[in-house]
Amino acid sequence: MTFPRVKLVIFLCALSATTLSVFPSVASCQNQNASVAANPENVRKRVEELLKKMTLEEKIGQLNQVSAANFLNPPNREEMIRKGQIGSFLWSVDSAQLDKYQHIAMEESRLRIPLLFGYDVIHGYRTVFPVPLAMAASWDPQVPEKAQAFAAREARAAGINWTFAPMVDIARDARWGRIVEGAGEDPYLGAAMARSQVRGFQGPELGAPDRVLATVKHFGGYGAAEGGRDYDPVYLPETSLRNVYFPSFKAAVDAGVGSLMSAYMDLNDVPAGGNRWLLHDILREEWKFRGFVVTDALTTKDLVTHGFARDEKDAAYKAFSAGVNVDMASRILAAQLPELVRSGRISEAQIDDAVRPVLAVKFRMGLFEHPYVDPAKASSVLNDPAAREYARIAAERTMVLLRNENHTLPLSKTASSIALIGPLANEPMDLDGGWGVQGETPAVTVEEGLHKELPNAKITFARGGEIRRTIPSQFEDFFPGSKKAPQLTYEQNSKEIEEAVAAARSSDVSLLVLGELANMSGEYGSRSTLELPGRQQELLEKVVTLGKPTVLVLVGGRPLNITWASQHVPAIVMAWQPGTEAGNAIAHILLGDANPGGKLPLSWPRSAGHEPLYYSRNITQYPETDPQYRSRYWEGPSTPLYPFGFGLSYTTFKVSDLRLSKSALKAGEPLEARAQVTNTGGVAGDEVVQLYIHQRAGSTSRPLRELKGFERVALQPGESKTVHFPLGPKELTYWSSVRQGWVEEAEQFDVWVGDSSAAEANATFRVVE
Ligand code: NOJ
Repeated sequence: MTFPRVKLVIFLCALSATTLSVFPSVASCQNQNASVAANPENVRKRVEELLKKMTLEEKIGQLNQVSAANFLNPPNREEMIRKGQIGSFLWSVDSAQLDKYQHIAMEESRLRIPLLFGYDVIHGYRTVFPVPLAMAASWDPQVPEKAQAFAAREARAAGINWTFAPMVDIARDARWGRIVEGAGEDPYLGAAMARSQVRGFQGPELGAPDRVLATVKHFGGYGAAEGGRDYDPVYLPETSLRNVYFPSFKAAVDAGVGSLMSAYMDLNDVPAGGNRWLLHDILREEWKFRGFVVTDALTTKDLVTHGFARDEKDAAYKAFSAGVNVDMASRILAAQLPELVRSGRISEAQIDDAVRPVLAVKFRMGLFEHPYVDPAKASSVLNDPAAREYARIAAERTMVLLRNENHTLPLSKTASSIALIGPLANEPMDLDGGWGVQGETPAVTVEEGLHKELPNAKITFARGGEIRRTIPSQFEDFFPGSKKAPQLTYEQNSKEIEEAVAAARSSDVSLLVLGELANMSGEYGSRSTLELPGRQQELLEKVVTLGKPTVLVLVGGRPLNITWASQHVPAIVMAWQPGTEAGNAIAHILLGDANPGGKLPLSWPRSAGHEPLYYSRNITQYPETDPQYRSRYWEGPSTPLYPFGFGLSYTTFKVSDLRLSKSALKAGEPLEARAQVTNTGGVAGDEVVQLYIHQRAGSTSRPLRELKGFERVALQPGESKTVHFPLGPKELTYWSSVRQGWVEEAEQFDVWVGDSSAAEANATFRVVE
């Protein structure tokens, strides 16, 4: 077999990345593949050599991250780079500016240390992929891995070498706006998504070509903000932190993530950005994290606001002593550390310890060898149709079919007229979702997607009233096209609603695209209710009353109260915020060119009053699952509207024949569960087979169910497959608050396998002494 020369070099270099210790002489690849720079001994030596040459000011410069954008901006950035006073930038989006800064660092600074350019590449850079919560709904770790690999390639081509993602905060309260940025409520699914995103961003290891440094954030417990109010304090016992909120971070660390961001809020009364237990004891001592810690924006300064630090000097001392390496935007470490060292409160050896991982990451990334952007490459990478194609596939794989009475969907391709209604149907920014800000190609609207698939159908669009936040977001000035204060009067909205009803009346099918604007979730996007914003519920009810075939497509970053719709609208699809290919993906799903196979990564609440809500809870007195007790609330059910893991398809599946390889095992031994899944319907489709366990007794009460395995399986009609799930110490161990440690207890366990957290196929086994 002959390989074209270029490909062969790449292949050998990739090989050397994983087998370097076996083949240490593959040094000729150094220029092609920066992964060679990752040889730990080389890196260590280079860091030490460089440290010896650095002044205190230059060392502290590596801990200083400043804004490249026009806010929070030090005026003399270029001069600071020359003097080695800046180690990295955030909000770096202007490629020419970044390139200029890097040239100054590499050619005009004394020690020629490359800069890191960070940006929130959360779900795409130029090509926008579905939001992270949607990607989790794919239940396919390949989706975020591939999507983030495309995002990394585009960002890197534009000069960004560091992303502030993945966000892996577990969120069990949909009022919290940032639920959209993570993988939902479950630690097992969250860990799988965390791992795959780190691999997508960084590649097999730090320094892989066309990839970026990833940041796992926000450590830790941010998703449990009281009342879902962003930035508010979190009180979580160690058992919840270790069993629920930490596993996704640990998974990212184990996958080799190069940096970690601390969270904004107080955790059990200690700000996460000044919390030594989090940033040192857990992260460094227990998890052996080798990368560096960056604070969230302005966190160090805000230690004073928290009532934790007396003044800025105290804030610098506390953040640094807790384990912060890089200070994002507040410039407090740069201002205060010199004096803290002079006064002897912090030693220069401690400064060296903080600087080492920052330099090490820069060496491991190969930045000293390849600091610059290749402008010739940028245009082809940023316009690569393969990214668009994958954005559509990813979006299709994330959508969840929640209801489909009487086979309302897929729509017939012979429908001659469709009323397309709703304030989100034709809004590219909102179909992209938050952080889609570099998506210069606007998202395909639903109208455009439908027109492409149904060129002969009459599609009448009617917005049906506007929706706006009542209180604008503090970020709206940053983002072009953000929707601010309401523009229409009550009467004007009424008129739009009547126009929409008229359009529905004169069409064969009503398609409503309702939900939330991009700025209604995300940071600063928390809510006290989960109602459809504005007068969308009224619009929905008026259209449904006409009795036409009606489909509701939900767009947004969180579940909303669709309890009425779940009884009155025949077909409901959760489309999330699908990204650049939104309209095409939605059209494919609605017309059956793609069969929905996504599943909910969260328990869908009936209303905000049900939050926090999650399936993996301890069930104590008077179980609500017992028909005698019915509900925790007297007004109605306290169970979710749709359970975690739920999602329908245009075909049907049967999960059967659950078998365990043994019925008893010793602690530490493995066990295998397997089950058969069959496509019992008439079209090809995907089922996500899910495995849950329950430990019946122990040193502490254990949750009703816990996800411990899943696999998304594609099946032709009539086809069956056997899925295998390993069960062993990894799945059966938990952190016991009574034993104050990790335990695998000799107890009886239940296993369920099925198509959601309500899976019914059941078996039991016992762990014996
Ligand atoms: C604040 C957000 O909390 C964080 O997620 C983000 O990475 C930084 N700002 C930088 O934009």
